Amino acid sequence: MMIADALRFGAQLLAEAAIPEHSKEAASLLGFVIGRDRAYLIAHDDLQLGAKEIERFEAVLRRRASHEPFQYIVGKQEFFGLEFKVTPDVLIPRPETEILVEHAIDWLNRREARRFCEIGIGSGCISLAILANVPDSTCIAGDVSENALLVAVENALRLGLQQRIKIVLSDIFASMDERGLDLIVTNPPYVALKDIGGLQIEVREHEPLVALTDRGNGLGIIRRIIHDSAERLAPGGRLLMEIGWDQSEPVQAMLLPEVWQRIDLIPDLQGIPRVVSAIKTSD
Ligand SMILES: C[S@@+](CC[C@H](N)C(=O)[O-])C[C@H]1O[C@@H](n2cnc3c(N)ncnc32)[C@H](O)[C@@H]1O
Repeated sequence: MMIADALRFGAQLLAEAAIPEHSKEAASLLGFVIGRDRAYLIAHDDLQLGAKEIERFEAVLRRRASHEPFQYIVGKQEFFGLEFKVTPDVLIPRPETEILVEHAIDWLNRREARRFCEIGIGSGCISLAILANVPDSTCIAGDVSENALLVAVENALRLGLQQRIKIVLSDIFASMDERGLDLIVTNPPYVALKDIGGLQIEVREHEPLVALTDRGNGLGIIRRIIHDSAERLAPGGRLLMEIGWDQSEPVQAMLLPEVWQRIDLIPDLQGIPRVVSAIKTSD
């Protein structure tokens, strides 16, 4: 089979499975199997594939046709210009989370003290992107998923940032002693359990449930993080938290004025508030 035939076959199979952008995905999957980029495939579309390559291509096509996310098949995702290993034990890093990272980097780079904490590290994309862009920063980060922590540790090693991050198994702050932090960042599981069924099949059937939902109304873990962050931050320290598109009002109501000041809602490119920012009062 030539590359051109394989691409046609793959695109057809993915189209039948209702995978959007089926031609592009088929090309990316074939590129992954033979270790070449899409430009190479176009330039060499009359090249004959070996039997092993065809077998491996069919195997990955079948996985994608069953709606397994592309990133779990290839085992990686780019985030903030860095490559992260991903497995089905971690949420696939999302482009919208880069907003939170940008604000965290900007904040820490303007401060002398640069010790931050992340709740729910997952793949490590948030903490490691911050560490890579803020010289002399250090981090403590936790997660309740042991398997996610293994992925985060591997990503820290791959990026050479392991000396500046401590990664712990922890329910919110339970296994952390740190106080006087300059920043707390988090992208908590904020989807309400009742909304899981309405998510894309790739998300609801393949990404870890513990990364998506608190198994309640989506505000349970957010509430605990806001409550516990107050005693962990230094006066004047900042909390940056990603939230769901419809959560800005209830989350703002949790930020009591005697504890928090300068509460901001940071919008995404569509103008929807997706990150809440609050500074711990100095009094
Ligand atoms: C939405 S994912 C975010 C992962 C990663 N930080 C990112 O932005 O891609 C939420 C993460 O929080 C973790 N998590 C869920 N409940 C937790 C809890 N009670 N304490 C700490 N981490 C928790 C999940 O295992 C998951 O890795």
